[in-house]
Amino acid sequence: MVEIATSLLSLDTENVTKDIYNLEVAHTDYIHIDVMDGKFVEKDTEKRMFDYTNQIKAISNIPIDVHFMVEDIKKQLEMYIPFMPNCITFHYEACKNKEEVFHYINKIKEEEIKVGIAISPKTKLETIYEFLPFIHMVLMMTVEPGKGGQQLIPETLEKIKLLYDYRNEKKLEFNIEADGGINLETISSIKQVGVDIAVVGSAITKSSDYKQTIELLKS
Ligand code: DX5
Ligand code: ZN
Repeated sequence: MVEIATSLLSLDTENVTKDIYNLEVAHTDYIHIDVMDGKFVEKDTEKRMFDYTNQIKAISNIPIDVHFMVEDIKKQLEMYIPFMPNCITFHYEACKNKEEVFHYINKIKEEEIKVGIAISPKTKLETIYEFLPFIHMVLMMTVEPGKGGQQLIPETLEKIKLLYDYRNEKKLEFNIEADGGINLETISSIKQVGVDIAVVGSAITKSSDYKQTIELLKS
């Protein structure tokens, strides 16, 4: 059964408390927080996402799945580690070299927080093979990072299948998360290639009934 991480990126609301409550009632497995710095990607969601995370921590126990689309990972870790999210994922493409990747993997694990590495559609799978034994999750972008409401890029499905097969072949343990353009039309292909956690933004937050949409995505 695929788990659902609801992304709040496309949420346009005056009353985020009500939306968090509705997501709790709708049994989203995680809330996905898209931190964008206006440098790694064009949009800047730093303040909004920090406020959302504060609110979630104040009123809910839904596990938080943080997705850094930022250049300054160190700065964002200082802001998000205190929230003790379930998982913090950073982009391979934001790191200068493999030493930096390992540095952040260890830093996040030292805080007893799960660590994920995200790769964009154009990044080759082989570039992250050496990190896989040390991380809890791989976030496979199925759209170009930076905004919600995009179409899923079909070529990324083949890449996810390769990762799934590689994990089984090497008997590794990490979760596979897919992110971008996932909705009631594309969810079956996502399940077919072995995704464990599907990030869904606009298909949920723009729907009139969160609970029904999440049940349909999971069924
Ligand atoms: C895009 C974000 C995704 C996005 C998903 O850069 O990482 O999490 O919010 O939104 P949808 O589901 O609308 O593509
Ligand atoms: Zn995301």
